Amino acid sequence: MTRRLALITGASAGIGAEFARQYAARGWDVALTARRADRLEALALDLEKHFGCSTLVIAQDLAGAQAVDAILAEVKEAGRHVDGLVNNAGYGLPGTFFNTSWADQETFIRVLFTAPCELVHKLLPGMSERNYGRIVNVASLVGYTPGSAGHTLYAPVKAAMIKFSESVHAEAKAAGHDIHVTALCPGLTWTEFHDVNGTRARTNQAPAWMWMQAGPVVEAGIDAVERGMPVVVPGGQNKGLATLAKLLPDPIARMVMAEQSKRFRDLKD
Ligand SMILES: NC(=O)c1ccc[n+]([C@@H]2O[C@H](COP(=O)([O-])OP(=O)(O)OC[C@H]3O[C@@H](n4cnc5c(N)ncnc54)[C@H](OP(=O)(O)O)[C@@H]3O)[C@@H](O)[C@H]2O)c1
Repeated sequence: MTRRLALITGASAGIGAEFARQYAARGWDVALTARRADRLEALALDLEKHFGCSTLVIAQDLAGAQAVDAILAEVKEAGRHVDGLVNNAGYGLPGTFFNTSWADQETFIRVLFTAPCELVHKLLPGMSERNYGRIVNVASLVGYTPGSAGHTLYAPVKAAMIKFSESVHAEAKAAGHDIHVTALCPGLTWTEFHDVNGTRARTNQAPAWMWMQAGPVVEAGIDAVERGMPVVVPGGQNKGLATLAKLLPDPIARMVMAEQSKRFRDLKD
């Protein structure tokens, strides 16, 4: 029997690299994609050595309109099909809607929402034909919290990622396919995310109990998708915060978010 293949976006760092490690450890082959080819090559070599898996390295910028087609063409050229997809690539766009360009906002939507939806849309026919698919869409705890000043589209896009996952999960279930779709909603996680968006110094002021390592976050995601859960919030602290966000009256939740935004984001200029 041929080994299953997981396609992981944003595999060059953080949560994506950890997904690659954990899928490889579970006996899957992995197709790694992100922009930094050197990082992907190094990870691929390491995984081949430690887990004896096959790897594909596909350097692509998801901001490009043809990126998804290019990634899928490389998988096909290698004679493989995708059994598992992890839509993970992402970043935070610093600043506000007032002081950022539309080009940057549009690119953000493409990388964090349009490209993931396109990948799911283009992979579903093959998955349903083979009656097998596992899809993890990396959303965020902020998909549950009110919109806030700064990083304007981050929360809306992550909320959409949760709803999108629930919808496709329900459609696959209604069709009777063995295709599971899960939105993974991490809270603060130790990766390069806050270095890349320039908020490291401020975000590190968040209390230690709020932070998780990528390992248990990814473990929760893979476990949830295997069990057919449409959404998973990893970690007791994040589950508590998600519940609080649902229970608090909206005006109070907005007040709390406003205070947090002032603390952790630069909203001036
Ligand atoms: N860390 C947290 O606290 C946290 C919390 C909740 C949710 N998340 C979500 O978790 C996911 C992974 O983030 P992370 O924390 O692991 O951050 P990270 O360490 O900065 O990794 C982000 C990954 O996304 C890739 N990426 C960024 N822009 C890309 C583009 N235009 N095209 C292709 N790949 C791109 C990066 O690779 P290249 O630079 O090589 O392209 C990198 O592999 C994101 O969706 C993020 O929103 C993170």
